[in-house]
Amino acid sequence: MRVGFLGLGTVGQAVVRLLHEERERLAANGLALEPVRALVRDTARPRAVPAALELTADPARVLDAPDIDLVVEVMGGVEPATSYMLRALRAGRPVVTANKEAVAHRGKDLLEVAAEAGVPLRFEASVAGAIPIVRALKESLAGDRVTEIAGIVNGTSNYVLGLMEEGQDLEAAVRMARERGYAEPDPTRDLDGSDAACKLAILASIAFSARVRPEQVGTCGIQMVSREDLRWGREMGYRLKLLALARRTEAGIEAHVRPTFLPVSHPLAGVGGVTNALLVRGERCGDLVFQGPGAGGDATATAVVGDLLEIARRRLVPGAGALGAGAAEASATLGARVREGPYCTCRDQVEVVPPHRCVTAAYLHLEVADRPGVLAQVAGCLAAHQVSIAEALQKARGEGPVPVLFITHPSPWGALEAAVKEIAGLPVVARVAGLMAVLGR
Ligand code: NAP
Ligand code: HSE
Repeated sequence: MRVGFLGLGTVGQAVVRLLHEERERLAANGLALEPVRALVRDTARPRAVPAALELTADPARVLDAPDIDLVVEVMGGVEPATSYMLRALRAGRPVVTANKEAVAHRGKDLLEVAAEAGVPLRFEASVAGAIPIVRALKESLAGDRVTEIAGIVNGTSNYVLGLMEEGQDLEAAVRMARERGYAEPDPTRDLDGSDAACKLAILASIAFSARVRPEQVGTCGIQMVSREDLRWGREMGYRLKLLALARRTEAGIEAHVRPTFLPVSHPLAGVGGVTNALLVRGERCGDLVFQGPGAGGDATATAVVGDLLEIARRRLVPGAGALGAGAAEASATLGARVREGPYCTCRDQVEVVPPHRCVTAAYLHLEVADRPGVLAQVAGCLAAHQVSIAEALQKARGEGPVPVLFITHPSPWGALEAAVKEIAGLPVVARVAGLMAVLGR
């Protein structure tokens, strides 16, 4: 089967390398996959791929060419990637993508068109790199009712937080993540939580059989996190993670991505580096933990190739016939050979709870004047919004602003934000330095 690529960067090149290195084993199993051509922006840029494949800047050379059977989309971004995938699907070409932005924002359109065309669209690599969580939720756990998913689903931010704990500053840590191929083409998406929000939207939609859109996920990133917060959190028995959390509640589905302090005993607290991990809670299966490399070319390539092989295996079904009679005929008929029913399972109408109503305990870091009555003023603002204090700690004494930390009891996020806004306006408060979630209180 001849594979056309949309994009040949970190992930695309790793997929080509994997297919090349494993070509004899795959061919021996009747699963020969040959990278033929790749759409890129800059055809002159050298690529670290062993096989001779054609580079083109013309999308039609991948999307409309009769010698392409399958399309791998690894270019990123919502557009033009979505339009290209829709075009490939309408032409009867199966598509495998690693693009969480396109799947989260336009998955409904993509899956509808795939279903109309009877052609597979697969996206295992779009969430949590090498961890097979999409298939686990869609197939293996489809018989249970999932009640909660808590996960570290952005490798870059987890790697960056780990380096900050070791004393690196944020900028240096992000540079190192980019050098290792973990970061998005625009790393802001890793740091501001939007990459994780797209992944959570995909996971929650599958787990709860109801569409959750990225803009419904309450999202906050790690840009405000300081090394002091990490250190103080540890002193209090917590580790800070960018946590993606979705749960079924009586009010509907709660979904948010926030820097979150986890008790050190929590199964996700010790997950370091680029590793991703997911805790899936089911009514009958209990707690399941999935863990593994969440970013990087080689790890992600395993998920892309797994999807390619799942599609390729269909032609081994007796009566499916062999490809290769003629390029045009092969491409035109492949869609028919791998026909499938709807892959989308978002059928239930379930409300998504607005982020300001999602309930969580919180950590609040303020810099305040060291004077009598200051804590009472801050406590007054919290009380006015029904936010109850669980712990309070002043970290220094002095003339200038001093750090004060609060841990609150669970409260709606909107109440926390409203209280913090009022606190920020108090003349005795120099700065609100951090507001993060706390799990396990
Ligand atoms: P990347 O290294 O930036 O590669 C993107 C590729 O797409 C490049 O080859 C680029 O061409 C090409 N491209 C982008 N826009 C294009 C356009 N408009 N027209 C033609 N070519 C275009 O990105 P990546 O890290 O491989 O990520 C690719 C996708 O996989 C993204 O959706 C990302 O979210 C997802 N993903 C990445 C990882 C990871 O660890 N990196 C893990 C899981 C999923 P040039 O090379 O000429 O610039
Ligand atoms: N930039 C993403 C991350 C790539 O760091 O998790 C994997 O989706």
